[in-house]
Amino acid sequence: MSARSGVLITLEGCDGCGKSTQAALLCARLAAGGLPVGPSSAPGTVIREPGGTAAGEAIRDVLLHGLQAPAPWTEALLYAAARAELVERVLLPGLGAGRVLVLDRFIDSSLAYQGFARGLGIDAVLGVNEPGLRGLLPDLTIVLDVDPLVGLGRAGGTPDRIEAEGLDLQQRVAAGFAVLARRFPERVRLIDGFRDIDLVAASVEAAALQAVADAGARPGG
Ligand SMILES: Nc1ncnc2c1ncn2[C@@H]1O[C@H](COP(=O)(O)OP(=O)(O)OP(=O)(O)O)[C@@H](O)[C@H]1O
Ligand SMILES: [Mg+2]
Repeated sequence: MSARSGVLITLEGCDGCGKSTQAALLCARLAAGGLPVGPSSAPGTVIREPGGTAAGEAIRDVLLHGLQAPAPWTEALLYAAARAELVERVLLPGLGAGRVLVLDRFIDSSLAYQGFARGLGIDAVLGVNEPGLRGLLPDLTIVLDVDPLVGLGRAGGTPDRIEAEGLDLQQRVAAGFAVLARRFPERVRLIDGFRDIDLVAASVEAAALQAVADAGARPGG
C-alpha cells in the first residue's frame, strides 16, 4: 500500500464501547488541527460500516433490519461485499488523495464477530475479505476496551433474556478483539474505554496523531 499517501484509522470494540462517540470526536479534533479528514465528498465526517455507499447501505438494511437473521456465512459474505464496495469507491480514492479516513468499524469487526465469536474462523473470514480489501489494512486500529456488560448497560434499559444472550456473544467478541490485538500488534491498539469520554478521546487522539506522523515518515508518504 505504498502508493497511497492518506491514513486509515478504524475504531473497533464490542457493542456500546464508545466507537461512534469517539470516531466523531476524533474527526472533529483532527479537522480542527487542520488535517484533511474524511472523504473529499463529505469532509470532516466518519465513515460507517456497513454502509458508506449505495450498495453498502442496502446491504446494511438486509443485515440489520431484515425480517430473518442471515445465516453466519451469509452475514460474513454480506459484510465482505459491503466492504469491497467501500474500499473501491471511497477508501482507495480518499487515501490516494492523501486524506485521513476515520472508520466506525471495519475488517476487525468481521474477524471478531463472524470469525471468532460465531466460530467461522478468523483466517476463513479474512480469506473471503481479502479480494475486496485489495491489500488495504488500517494504519491504526483502536479497540476500545470495555467490559461487555458495561457496553450493554450503556445501551440503556434493564437487560432482558435476549440481552443476556447478547452478553454471551459480546464476551466472545471481546475475547476475539484481544486475539486480534495479539495477532496484529503492529496496527491494533487497545485503549481503555472505561473512563470519562474526554479522557478516552485524548488517548484516541494521541494514538491517531502518532499514526499520522508515522504515515508521513513512510516511503512515498
Ligand atoms: N466513556 C464513556 N463513558 C460513559 N458513557 C459513554 C462513554 N462513551 C460513550 N458513552 C455512551 O454510551 C452509549 C454508547 O456509545 P456509542 O454509541 O459511542 O457506542 P458504540 O460503540 O458506537 O455502540 P454500537 O456498537 O451500538 O454502535 C452512548 O449513549 C454514549 O453517549
Ligand atoms: Mg456505534
